[in-house]
Amino acid sequence: MTIRQYKNTSPKIGNDTYIDKSAVLVGDVTCADDVSIWPLVAARGDVNYINIGARTNVQDGTVLHVTRTSENNPKGFPLIIGEDVTVGHKCMLHGCTLGDRILVGMGAIIMDGVIVEDDVFIGGGTLVPPNKTLKSGYLYVGNPAKQARPLKEEEIQFLKQSAVNYIKLKDEYLAEPNN
Ligand SMILES: CC(C)(COP(=O)(O)OP(=O)(O)OC[C@H]1O[C@@H](n2cnc3c(N)ncnc32)[C@H](O)[C@@H]1OP(=O)(O)O)[C@@H](O)C(=O)NCCC(=O)NCCS
Repeated sequence: MTIRQYKNTSPKIGNDTYIDKSAVLVGDVTCADDVSIWPLVAARGDVNYINIGARTNVQDGTVLHVTRTSENNPKGFPLIIGEDVTVGHKCMLHGCTLGDRILVGMGAIIMDGVIVEDDVFIGGGTLVPPNKTLKSGYLYVGNPAKQARPLKEEEIQFLKQSAVNYIKLKDEYLAEPNN
């Protein structure tokens, strides 16, 4: 089963969302309206919670997980993803906080305690080490992630457009008879 309860908590799914049948959502996972979750995504909200904001898309093979609370870290590291975010194919988002209108390039890894401000572009394959802050309006690439340059105007527009494209795509999938 795709959407599974853990310790009496089941994923909460908003209106007009698309959750692919091969994705797995466990426990304390909240998807706001118009979210799309594509094939083979694993979102495991067991030792902390996962929030996915409205109109965000999480593409194929991405893994979402969290870190438990502890004496030194009483809130642990939940995973919070803002609105109109594009998470590309096969990313790993672990215990980090993402703002709105962000593109996480395919294969990127974002670790515990990272904060990504609004309107950031993260290049494919980028690794963001724990507790870093990525500043609004910049492109980051590399391992470890470095600020590459300010975003161009067309890239800032694309951050929003990418979310719009995925809303259209998931609406088409929702209209398919077998979905
Ligand atoms: C980073 C990116 C936006 C290109 O930015 P750009 O400034 O136009 O990059 P350019 O192609 O002009 O390359 C500039 C330099 O950065 C390097 N570069 C490009 N993308 C890179 C990446 N992801 N990581 C590391 N270096 C990268 C190029 O090799 C080039 O290096 P050089 O100057 O030594 O030759 C693009 O490569 C990228 O990663 N897009 C993500 C796409 C994606 O994953 N979408 C989600 C799935 S739908």
